[in-house]
This record gives sequence, structure tokens and C-alpha cells, in this order.
Amino acid sequence: MGGWSAEREVSLRSGKTCADAAEKAGYRVSRVDVDREIAARLRALKPDVALNVLHGRPGEDGTLQGLLEILAIPYSHSGVLASALAIQKDIAKTVLKAAGIPVPGGRLVARADAARAHALPKPYVIKPVAEGSSVGVFIVSEDQTHPPQELTRPDWTFGETLLAEPFIAGKELTCGVMGDKALGVIEVVHMLKFYDYEAKYAPGGSKHLLPAPIAPDVYEEVQRLSVAAHQALGCRGVTRADFRYDDSKPGIEGLFCLEVNTQPGMTETSLVPDMATHAGIAFEELVRWMIEDASLNR
Ligand SMILES: Nc1ncnc2c1ncn2[C@@H]1O[C@H](COP(=O)(O)OP(=O)(O)O)[C@@H](O)[C@H]1O
Ligand SMILES: [Mg+2]
Repeated sequence: MGGWSAEREVSLRSGKTCADAAEKAGYRVSRVDVDREIAARLRALKPDVALNVLHGRPGEDGTLQGLLEILAIPYSHSGVLASALAIQKDIAKTVLKAAGIPVPGGRLVARADAARAHALPKPYVIKPVAEGSSVGVFIVSEDQTHPPQELTRPDWTFGETLLAEPFIAGKELTCGVMGDKALGVIEVVHMLKFYDYEAKYAPGGSKHLLPAPIAPDVYEEVQRLSVAAHQALGCRGVTRADFRYDDSKPGIEGLFCLEVNTQPGMTETSLVPDMATHAGIAFEELVRWMIEDASLNR
């Protein structure tokens, strides 16, 4: 848990919740806040299994997975390649598209260029290629004359290349996958302007509608696409796919997959635990499943 990404605090919360549940389930648990000494600490600890509850780098990008492979410590969630693929949104979209999963269009743009002129016709979205939790995401609406000037900040830490996508109006849908089974679809309703970091983690910042109030065929399609996306990227364990759904379009036409999260949030109020509970899998059981699912060569 922990680490040094922008999502460190969420990971510490996910980690505490999972460690508590694992202890309750009867496992002997060591809580490890990941830092640059992680290799030496793991070598000293010699755990039977690593339950990876990190978000962002280095737990979500394949590098920690590489270390665990070298140390021969079985670990949860996705392996080296799937993790590295999924965290790189532009490359992940290419793979998903090739597998027949609808993704938004758009293009890569240099940070300075995105700040100087609109990267796409408005409305559009500018986001980091490899961050999570809506960190560094900007929605440029019709009435905005200038591109986001925050992009010019000297303390910008979200990379020099950004992803520009057409803004997809409508609903925010998300679907967890456990093994090769979909866990159900949640519509996230944001109380703030858009689903940003604050809305995701502030109490009352967002609401989960479960099951998502969408037509049954759309609900089924989100579940099918989520499993297909998990498999196309070669994911393992638990993942969560994020979608936008423009419900002004007929049927499943307005459905677009934004990304697959290989290390979804695991606090008690997070999306995947919520879906699992609804599917009849209690939090403790979910954590137990992740631990027992751990392996090498994932
Ligand atoms: N093309 C898009 N159209 C509309 N909203 C978007 C689009 N891309 C991102 N968003 C908004 O930004 C949020 C974060 O984007 P996402 O691609 O899921 O990255 P992450 O969750 O890793 O920060 C989404 O949940 C959604 O609310
Ligand atoms: Mg997302």
C-alpha cells in the first residue's frame, strides 16, 4: 500500500481496509508502505503472497510486478505486461479498439501545444496519459475561450504528452471484473462539476447508483465489454472498466470505454467492493479471493 504516486493517500486507505479484512479472515498480515527500499524489505519479510493495493506508479504500471516476479513472491491483480499496457491510456485504447471495444477518438498532444490552442473542437477533454483518480483531467466546455492554462504551470507533474478526447456527454458507468466474471454496473452521479479527485473521495462527493439505471441490453453490453477489455489487455484478478454512455444515442451506440483500472480502489466505499457486495460477495470474501488468486507469471 501507499507508494509515491498522486494516489498515495487512497492507496493507504485501500490498504488499511484490505489488511483489516485479511486479518479478520485469519491471515497473518504485514502492512508495507512501499518506498524505494521495497526490494530489501520484501526480501527480509519473505511473504507467502503480496496483496497489491497500490494505485498509480509503481504498483499499477508493471514495475512492482516485475520486482515481485524477480523475488518470486506470488502477487494479486494483473501481471507485468497487462499492468504496463493498461496504465498507458493511449496504447490501451489501441489494443481495446483492435479487440472491437468502442473507445473515444482523440489524439496525443504536447503539453505546451494543448495550452496554446484547443487540441480538438469543443467540448473536449485533456487528460494525462498515465495518471488515475481523475488527477490532471480538464473538461473544456463550449463556452471556454481558452485551453486550460493550468497546463503551463511550472510544477506540472503529469507528463509532457497528454491525451485529448472528444467530450462524451451523458452518464458515467463503471463495471468491475473478478476473474472472468462481471460484477455489475454502477452509474456514478457526481455532485460536483465533473468526476474529479475530490468527488471520488470526499464523502457525499459522488453517489453510486447500483444497479445502474440503464436499459437491460446496455447493462449487459457494459458487462460484456468489461470482460472483453480485461481479456484483451491480458488482465488478471480484479479490474474495473470505466465508460461514458451518451444515452441520447439509440441503444448501445453511445457507449465508450475510457480505460481499464488494474488496481481499482479497495476502500469500503469504493466501486468494486460495492459491486461485489451487491453480487453477494462480502468485502472479506473479496479480499480472500484476491489473496488466494495470487500467483507468478501472470
Ligand atoms: N472522453 C471523455 N468524455 C467525457 N468525460 C471524460 C472523458 N474522459 C475522461 N472523462 C472524465 O474524466 C474522468 C477520468 O477519466 P479516466 O479516463 O477514467 O481517467 P482516470 O480515472 O484514470 O483519471 C472520467 O471518469 C470522466 O468523468
Ligand atoms: Mg477512470
